[in-house]
Amino acid sequence: MIKAVIFDLDGVIVSTDEFHYLGWQKLADEEGIFFNRTINERLRGVSRLESLEIILEKAAKSYSPEEKKALAEKKNGYYRELLKTLSPSDILPGAIELVNALKNAGIKVAIGSSSKNTPFILRQIGLADTFDAVSDGNQIKKSKPDPEVFLLAASKMQISPGHCLVVEDADAGVEAALNAGMKCLAVGSAYNHPQAHLKANSLSEVSVEILCNL
Ligand code: BG6
Ligand code: MG
Repeated sequence: MIKAVIFDLDGVIVSTDEFHYLGWQKLADEEGIFFNRTINERLRGVSRLESLEIILEKAAKSYSPEEKKALAEKKNGYYRELLKTLSPSDILPGAIELVNALKNAGIKVAIGSSSKNTPFILRQIGLADTFDAVSDGNQIKKSKPDPEVFLLAASKMQISPGHCLVVEDADAGVEAALNAGMKCLAVGSAYNHPQAHLKANSLSEVSVEILCNL
């Protein structure tokens, strides 16, 4: 029985994908590194520094740890500038409705995101006080597919992992949910993940009944 639902943030609750892409593209162009939307897909759910490592696979030279840190901060600066324009209108279809329906049914709701910008994003979209728990990139050591971010969310809510369901748009996130011993609803880019328990094109298609009968 599902007692809590843990939502990934980027690509599940809010559409920040394009901003991430634009930030990385600008950085890659400045460094003369080949980058495109196909490579960008591999960055879904992956931490900032691990994302940079994927981008640097195409670099002609090697970078020191200090240079990598500076590059990641530079990208984050570009991304944060774009995030300033984020508003409640960027919340994805059906997300608020599903969150509210779950809360009305007595099911706890949390955020489980790799992003260190989670608090800022939640404020920008007006959802800073909506969730029972927020577990994010600032609080974890290992990023998805490690289950740490979801296990932390479950422990903050005092719900055992077996009673949690994760909503994810990244393959790495689906794997993190399974590694945590949780059920998983795959949306968006993760739609075709073979091990997800349920899939949907949009949260508008998902009801509390469907999730609770898993
Ligand atoms: C995840 C995104 O939610 O957060 C990734 O899917 C991103 O693409 C990661 O790299 C880390 O984000 P941030 O905001 O800490 O740079
Ligand atoms: Mg995501």
